[in-house]
Amino acid sequence: MYNAFFGFKESPFSLSPDPTFLYRSPQHEEALANLIYGVQSRKGFIVLTGEVGTGKTTMLECLRDFLETQFIEFAFIFNSRINADQFFEMIAYDLDLRCNRSSKTEVLFALNHLLIQQANENRTTVLIVDEAHNLDWDVLEEIRLLGNLENRRGKLLQIVLAGQPELDRKLDAPNLRQLKQRIVLRCSLRPFREEETVAYINSRLEKAGMRDQTVFPIELLLEIHVRSQGIPRVINAICDNLLLTTFAAEQYTATLEMLDEVCQDMRLEWPGRHGRTRTSSRYTQESFDHPSIFTRGD
Ligand SMILES: Nc1ncnc2c1ncn2[C@@H]1O[C@H](COP(=O)(O)OP(=O)(O)O)[C@@H](O)[C@H]1O
Ligand SMILES: [Mg+2]
Repeated sequence: MYNAFFGFKESPFSLSPDPTFLYRSPQHEEALANLIYGVQSRKGFIVLTGEVGTGKTTMLECLRDFLETQFIEFAFIFNSRINADQFFEMIAYDLDLRCNRSSKTEVLFALNHLLIQQANENRTTVLIVDEAHNLDWDVLEEIRLLGNLENRRGKLLQIVLAGQPELDRKLDAPNLRQLKQRIVLRCSLRPFREEETVAYINSRLEKAGMRDQTVFPIELLLEIHVRSQGIPRVINAICDNLLLTTFAAEQYTATLEMLDEVCQDMRLEWPGRHGRTRTSSRYTQESFDHPSIFTRGD
């Protein structure tokens, strides 16, 4: 709605996990490098964890792009609230297995055939499961068994499990001990630090077509960091609403009052919201020249 007003080519703060807007924070860079390395080196199980909205699905979408450019076959299961039959059906569908997709035996047979064929051509095959913390125990058990398939060069199927931190706890269960032992790479995503939040917002604005942005002054960026607690999804939601509010006011710069309004509409809570005093920032002293920003409490 506000894109033309601000001169954006695209919405800068969409909530979709779009790799074209990727901001390569050191941890996202490392997670992606790990995912790619894990797949290429045929390590078997790779686990990616992180709180809601920290960028897990975005990382998987980047991995998907990589696999596509390398012509590596993969199945991407993003709905994890499925039973074992649906799990095999989805794999068969994604890998385009020619068999009766509702028969587990047939799917396993066709899958095995594909994996061996790929391995003979010195290629690997990947299974990606997002929201893996929701997986039923029996589906996890099927995944563990798929992870057993190997030839002399390594695992035939590389399995990437991404999910919320509960996934780690689930993998600690005694019945999953064997699966846990096979996890060769683990990465986790945490919320952004202050300077990353600032760089992230600037990077999204730049990718949308606004270089050296002046819509969000530095003190506002720092306040967005506090209120979003550095969670990319929350940052996006705040910034999107803030741009809309700024546009509606026919202004080119967002203000703290607008941010307050947006946070109230979003019913946003953050630590220290009630009577907070601000802790020190790595940024310029200038930030402190606006005391109203940092001492408000309601
Ligand atoms: N490194 C990043 N670069 C660009 N956008 C990101 C990054 N990390 C997260 N996001 C954005 O934050 C939002 C939430 O990310 P998502 O991958 O859906 O999180 P999760 O799967 O962990 O819940 C999405 O809009 C996504 O584009
Ligand atoms: Mg996700």
